[in-house]
Amino acid sequence: MSRPLRIVMLGPPGSGKGTRAHIISELYGIPVITTGDMLREAVAKGTEYGKIAGGYMSRGELVPDEIVNGVVGERLSMSDLENGFILDGFPRSAPQAEFLDSFLEEHGLKLDHVIYVTLDDEAIVKRLSNRRSCPSCGEVYHLVSMPPKKEGVCDKCGSELVLRDDDRPSVIRNRLEVYREKTQPLLKKYRDKGLMREVPGDYPLDQLQEQLKRILG
Ligand code: AP5
Repeated sequence: MSRPLRIVMLGPPGSGKGTRAHIISELYGIPVITTGDMLREAVAKGTEYGKIAGGYMSRGELVPDEIVNGVVGERLSMSDLENGFILDGFPRSAPQAEFLDSFLEEHGLKLDHVIYVTLDDEAIVKRLSNRRSCPSCGEVYHLVSMPPKKEGVCDKCGSELVLRDDDRPSVIRNRLEVYREKTQPLLKKYRDKGLMREVPGDYPLDQLQEQLKRILG
């Protein structure tokens, strides 16, 4: 049996972290933990922390660290992660990175790779206004580069696709600001640890599998 693979996906909003996380998940059979999807589910269900998170998310701000660390800590303690995990959208701030370090240390675990997906701001704004997401299963499409087979309908589960609330240009600009202020400083930390693998967010979609296999070995 191959050794576990523990990966963090880093990069600005819309750079393509989720798309790559799902390709890696299929290639290596390890679960993706997407904090954005977990929080959106909590908002939709109206749970206690979902009620708090909703306002931050619709403004494009980070949900408070205590909430996100709690959600991620609970998920990382589940038993289906013995072959590893892909953290998509976590950590995004210094306190979250510290929380992850402590969790891994306490459990005698190590990160293997931090995949940093890069893309410039203009491309991000353009791309996110063409993104359509499935609110039921989380599948992501792009109206031009990755359209669903039937317009407006998820290929996987048949639900109606939506434009996310925070994919409006004014909110995207704020998400980019927040990314620069809170998340970008983490790049140095992971670069210094020798974990960073930088990939361009506009790499041809039909070549992503091969590229990721090359990087991850
Ligand atoms: P989240 O849902 O994590 O949003 P994000 O990080 O802003 O990232 P996105 O999901 O928008 O983009 P992505 O990089 O995954 O790109 P994708 O693969 O979809 O977070 C939302 C909110 O939740 C946050 O703003 C915050 O409020 C809260 N939150 C989440 N985590 C948190 C945390 N840890 N702490 C605090 N708050 C948190 O691709 C984008 C589009 O591009 C798609 O249409 C795709 O089809 C297309 N595409 C991808 N790759 C390519 C390519 N190579 N060529 C052409 N098109 C491509």
